[in-house]
Amino acid sequence: MNSLARQLSRDPNNEENKMMRAKIFLLTIAMAAPAWAIAQTTNTPSMERGKILYQKNMCVACHGTAGNGGERTSGPRLAPNVWPLEAMKTQMRNPRLDMPRYGEKFLSDSDLADIHAWLSTIKAGPKAKDIPLLANL
Ligand code: HEC
Repeated sequence: MNSLARQLSRDPNNEENKMMRAKIFLLTIAMAAPAWAIAQTTNTPSMERGKILYQKNMCVACHGTAGNGGERTSGPRLAPNVWPLEAMKTQMRNPRLDMPRYGEKFLSDSDLADIHAWLSTIKAGPKAKDIPLLANL
């Protein structure tokens, strides 16, 4: 390379260099995209799975079918206003009172994220005063 060419190649405003940088940039994104897409699909919590795991792991026995809380306060209401995932994880691994402990071996972080995703879809029911049958009692 002669000295002029070398100088050109270092010049950030040189059009050819700009073009090359743009191509490298686009190529990098194109190469990273499939890996990113795979990571997204495998890491996205599944609420369908969560609903099943909630039953399978017996959360339902103490916390009710829709996270509405168990009979005679066997387990508190979980939804709506679901605890943040991290707080839920702490409760699973080190329950603060009477709840049985769920170690990683029995309930993985990803299973818990699925349960959390499902609980988060549960909406508050209408207030008694907004249900005609109850409002007119
Ligand atoms: C044997 C009954 C029982 C089972 C089974 C159970 N829990 Fe609990 N859970 C409780 C009780 C009781 C508490 C109140 C705090 C404590 O005792 O540690 C609680 C607290 C919680 C809390 C904190 C909410 C709050 O307001 O205190 C979360 C979140 C939770 N449970 C989620 C789950 C999930 C998810 C499962 C299933 C993987 C599960 N629990 C299984 C009884 C149970």
